[in-house]
Amino acid sequence: MTPARGRLVALEGVDGSGKSTQAKILAESLGALLTFEPGATGLGRALRRLLLDPTSDAALDVRAEVLLMCADRAQHVARVVAPALGAGRLVVTDRFSGSTLAYQGYGRGLVVAELRQLTAWASAGVEADLTVVIDVPPKVARRRLERAAADRLERLDEHFFSRVRDGYLALAAEDPDHWTVVDGDDDVEAVAAAVRVTVERHLGVAPQGGLQERCR
Ligand code: TMP
Repeated sequence: MTPARGRLVALEGVDGSGKSTQAKILAESLGALLTFEPGATGLGRALRRLLLDPTSDAALDVRAEVLLMCADRAQHVARVVAPALGAGRLVVTDRFSGSTLAYQGYGRGLVVAELRQLTAWASAGVEADLTVVIDVPPKVARRRLERAAADRLERLDEHFFSRVRDGYLALAAEDPDHWTVVDGDDDVEAVAAAVRVTVERHLGVAPQGGLQERCR
């Protein structure tokens, strides 16, 4: 008998896109396990502090940054995501491999093909069945972030976030079977409805946690 295999949906977007709010709403509406990166495990919490501490900018090399993100992902997949998928659960994660490709690849300028290999290794081959990009123009994201205290990565300039955003859009365009883009420049409920529609369409996921067979 084939072991049960749940589904993994990743919510992605630039800081200030509203994707954490959307991940929460989606997980609740589908009865899914909600998780996030970086920081969902004991090790991850320590790594998140190192990665996002506003005072560590000068010290952290970009390759060190990506390896710490991948260490967080390895632990997250091993301890949280893979066991849940193995139990047949639907999992919604607030960020996954797409963040590494968009931020460290398109944003920081590391080679995307190398990052793909690195993150595939870190996650032991676990991939998102669907990645939903919550897309907002950089100015909208910036306005939303100004209301909150900025962490180390959020202090990067607007050009950086433009590259990250363009990266997400390029990644989505390359792989439309596994990536989708939702316009996040609308009120929370309207964006949530659009996210639900696209998840249901791509995965054949029924409300309240039911997993239907995917239509091919
Ligand atoms: P969060 O604020 O959505 O929790 O994300 C934390 C920050 O970490 C955010 O600025 C994006 C960044 N990040 C990366 O740069 N690469 C990654 O692989 C991940 C998971 C997050």
